[in-house]
Amino acid sequence: MTETVGILGLGAYAPERVMTNADWAELVDTSDEWITTRTGIKERRFAAADETSADMAVSAAHRVLDDAGLDATDIDEIILATDTPEMYAPDTAAFVQYQLGAREIPAFDLAGSGCAGFLMALDVARTRAQLGRKRVLVLAVELISRLMNWNDRDTCVLFGDAAGGAVVGPGEDVIGMLGAAAGTDGSKAGILCLEAGGTRVPFSAEVAAAGLHQKVVMHGREVFREAVRRMSQVTHELLEQAGKSLSDIALVVPHQANMRILEAVGKRLGLAPERVFSNIREYGNTGSASVPLALCHARAQGRIAAGDLVLLTSFGAGFHWAGLLLEF
Ligand SMILES: CC(C)(COP(=O)(O)OP(=O)(O)OC[C@H]1O[C@@H](n2cnc3c(N)ncnc32)[C@H](O)[C@@H]1OP(=O)(O)O)[C@@H](O)C(=O)NCCC(=O)NCCS
Repeated sequence: MTETVGILGLGAYAPERVMTNADWAELVDTSDEWITTRTGIKERRFAAADETSADMAVSAAHRVLDDAGLDATDIDEIILATDTPEMYAPDTAAFVQYQLGAREIPAFDLAGSGCAGFLMALDVARTRAQLGRKRVLVLAVELISRLMNWNDRDTCVLFGDAAGGAVVGPGEDVIGMLGAAAGTDGSKAGILCLEAGGTRVPFSAEVAAAGLHQKVVMHGREVFREAVRRMSQVTHELLEQAGKSLSDIALVVPHQANMRILEAVGKRLGLAPERVFSNIREYGNTGSASVPLALCHARAQGRIAAGDLVLLTSFGAGFHWAGLLLEF
């Protein structure tokens, strides 16, 4: 059997603390009914007070390595996607390299690419592995509960904390990576963003007093429309690239943004609901971590069999969107 580059292992981690819709209704003017009907979310997980982004990423990394049957010292590179880093600088990947006990390998973040970050990083890892970088650990982590505005009901109820990942490299018995596609429309950068803290709106006492450092700017309806359009578009691009049709796909695992977005993507593609995986009810929108978390849950629930084609799609701030076609 010859070796090909593919996914050698998968893993995900969600913190223990459960935050329900009823918990939110005690803090902001919202209700279980509003959140459930508008988003499909019932609960989400929040990190413990002493837990950081790097800690969560390392917890996920251990599960990825266990699944792959590898040690931290077997890893040749780390790429980490996040919008909620350990620090402004250095990047979260540096902390993870040390905490995980990896060798002195290249480790870097793919930062700010929103919920599409994991799939974009996975495709970078695939090409790096093919070029001889061997085993690349790809991680996605979001600890948004610590950085968001807990008084902003428009956004706070949507998100949860989680981490997930995959190791990409050569092997005989890999999850095949049949194709990848991605795109960016920077003209929509202001539709979904966290604008303070960079060079455009530097952090200052005034910014802090106005709470701008925690203000997620989100035009919900436009994000909704574009998420449906772009995740459907990237699905068609991937199928065309791989010479496959939708009937060949056993399961679509999309970014878990909102249950209504997932239903609209399924409808637009003409897929029965059971072919679009969702765990948003229990975890909310976990940003870049949502695709690896959902993929691990789909596999654990027996929704993926050997030989299945599984299509991953994501969409997020930027706007960025990405997709990947896997063969289990
Ligand atoms: C955010 C979202 C759930 C809002 O749903 P919607 O049907 O578009 O709701 P609307 O924007 O019409 O808002 C309806 C009302 O609910 C209110 N509202 C917003 N959040 C609320 C909450 N948590 N509880 C109760 N009411 C809320 C709004 O203030 C608005 O009130 P108004 O009509 O008096 O102004 C929806 O637009 C969405 O999911 N967008 C995509 C968000 C997303 O996925 N972001 C991440 C992308 S990766």
